Amino acid sequence: MALTVLISNQKGGVGKTTTAVNLATALAAVKKKVLLIDLDPQSNATTGLGIYSTKNGSTYDLMIQSKNLNGIILQTSIPGLTLAPSNINLIGAEIELVQAENRETILRNALFQYNKRFDYIIIDSPPSMGILTLNGLVAADGVIVPLQCEYYAMEGLNYLINSVKRVKNSFNPTLRIFGILLTMHDKRNALSLSVENDVRTTMGKQVFNTVIPRNTRISEAPSHGKPVLIYDVKCVGACAYMELAKEFLERQKKWQIN
Ligand SMILES: Nc1ncnc2c1ncn2[C@@H]1O[C@H](COP(=O)(O)OP(=O)(O)OP(=O)(O)O)[C@@H](O)[C@H]1O
Ligand SMILES: [Mg+2]
Repeated sequence: MALTVLISNQKGGVGKTTTAVNLATALAAVKKKVLLIDLDPQSNATTGLGIYSTKNGSTYDLMIQSKNLNGIILQTSIPGLTLAPSNINLIGAEIELVQAENRETILRNALFQYNKRFDYIIIDSPPSMGILTLNGLVAADGVIVPLQCEYYAMEGLNYLINSVKRVKNSFNPTLRIFGILLTMHDKRNALSLSVENDVRTTMGKQVFNTVIPRNTRISEAPSHGKPVLIYDVKCVGACAYMELAKEFLERQKKWQIN
């Protein structure tokens, strides 16, 4: 059975897509079968993998239930990494699904029969807590929350934790937070260090030991349509995402026992 991971934080620009693309790539690099689902109308995960045409359909078609997952997925240039691409149409889904029956469980139902085909399903979510993110929370086994090492980093974290609790009490009783990930960390910057200290003091073991540094190669990679792990495998950003995948796999063993 695939382990489904939602990357979420309703704060914008904190590294959700970067984490989704590079964790998915890192897991594929260690021979896991990975499906990356782009659930954001901005489509940054899709274009970040060099895919600019979604003529076979997108997660919009999946969410309005006009196509099944098989009809929209694409093999990426990375062996083992399959993508359910998004496009701008997905904006409409928030509105179109308002009246839909069982609108919270569409994604979970769409993934159900594909569970055995993948080891990991990684979902990139938009910076809002609408119906798309809610579908992600209902479909996921757990959430990774990227937090940018900047002022107000923890803003919104309580809101997300409460959303996780609500979904846990309703649609998805086994939902958990897999971990909080510090991103865009600059070790020469006192603010980064102070944010890291605050987050670790408050959230304890929930915070991944791995920290993603601020790294220019990470920000350059999407414009080349490549994950940083392919764009420059040796840079500190790529190494940090490989380290994250390693820590994630180690933590997963513990979750399976507990
Ligand atoms: N560690 C990093 N170092 C340098 N730049 C980064 C890093 N992580 C992300 N970025 C850059 O910061 C910007 C925001 O990152 P990203 O798109 O991953 O955030 P997001 O949370 O998905 O944003 P949104 O909320 O809009 O979906 C992007 O331009 C990305 O390339
Ligand atoms: Mg994004």
